[in-house]
Amino acid sequence: MPSIILRDIKKSYGEVVAADDLDLEVENGEYLCLLGPTGAGKTTALRIIAGLTKPDSGQVFLDGRDVTDLEPEERNAVLLSQRYSLFPTMTVAENILFGPSIRKVPELDSRKTLVELLDLVRLTKRADSYPRELSGGMQQRNALARALATNPDVLLLDEPLRALDARLRIDLRHELRSLAKALGLTVIHVTHDQEEAMVMADRIAVIRNGHIVQIGTPREVFDDPVSPFVANFVGQSNFFVGNILCSRDGRMTTVEDDKGHVVFARSSEIPVDSKAVVAIKVGNTRVVKRSDAFVMGTVERTLFEGRVVHLDVNAGELGRFSVKLPASRRDQVAVGDEVGLNWDIPKASVFPYPEGGLEEELRVD
Ligand SMILES: Nc1ncnc2c1ncn2[C@@H]1O[C@H](COP(=O)(O)OP(=O)(O)OP(=O)(O)O)[C@@H](O)[C@H]1O
Ligand SMILES: [Mg+2]
Repeated sequence: MPSIILRDIKKSYGEVVAADDLDLEVENGEYLCLLGPTGAGKTTALRIIAGLTKPDSGQVFLDGRDVTDLEPEERNAVLLSQRYSLFPTMTVAENILFGPSIRKVPELDSRKTLVELLDLVRLTKRADSYPRELSGGMQQRNALARALATNPDVLLLDEPLRALDARLRIDLRHELRSLAKALGLTVIHVTHDQEEAMVMADRIAVIRNGHIVQIGTPREVFDDPVSPFVANFVGQSNFFVGNILCSRDGRMTTVEDDKGHVVFARSSEIPVDSKAVVAIKVGNTRVVKRSDAFVMGTVERTLFEGRVVHLDVNAGELGRFSVKLPASRRDQVAVGDEVGLNWDIPKASVFPYPEGGLEEELRVD
């Protein structure tokens, strides 16, 4: 039985709809990343599960039990909030003990818990330090230990790595996931960093406007996005708009724009002559010689990003394409060069043209 079930949750703040028919199931022991743009309703979803926000309607189940009307203390879920704040006048140990002490665990149990937790988050030697004496990563682990001190089954993490510098954020991804797995916790980890979600999650749920738009393994969400929005939000995409010329042979779709440019994508069920959007992942867009190119363009800008070089290629009427080249090829392309682009056809998705237009579909605020 799934550990967490949200069923038909609705929550509005005046005009703002923060949860809109929100349905979500998280399996026991699963590490789920809830990924979405700012204002999508991620924090709201966590607060509703933790019991800190009451939904207008709908139900919350934890371990099969309807907890919709229960207080936060009566749920076995703990939220590590987006703005987690350690108490500055308390030591690491006192901060951790604050969790069980408010939940009235016997003194002895809380001492034992403390020793274990300090060990778990590798802060044993820093038990008597104050938050200001700790690095960002240590503070984050201290806050995590405080959350774990309540001995939850369900851990709700709201952007837990956001405040950390880039390097530490990457190191802690692995640690956090391993820790959760070792403790057998069911985790929802909120992030708007798609790379973080890709590497950490068993499954990713993409949320937008208070609603889950897609849920699946990182690979499923990356390779088979359900909409242009997901195609762009999870691993940026290049887009091409046109009409379906043919999709008959079942192997690929040919899409033609009104200037007669043609591109190819995977097969689709979209009827011939209807307006469509082809989404080509930036990582699937390659620089190739003219004879292999689907599209020709001029390099407008190169950005050296360390491991890769990011190219902005102006393909005239087809618009701009982003391309990533391995850094080892950085000397092979320069601004002003004419380059050919192509991609793996079966990896390029096709969608019916969105009702509100492509720009509106891709909006992230
Ligand atoms: N207490 C509140 N009062 C009024 N509006 C609220 C409240 N809490 C959330 N909202 C609104 O509900 C929407 C969803 O907010 P929420 O905080 O859940 O988004 P989020 O996905 O966590 O965003 P972020 O990535 O910026 O943290 C937003 O438009 C927000 O302004
Ligand atoms: Mg939030």
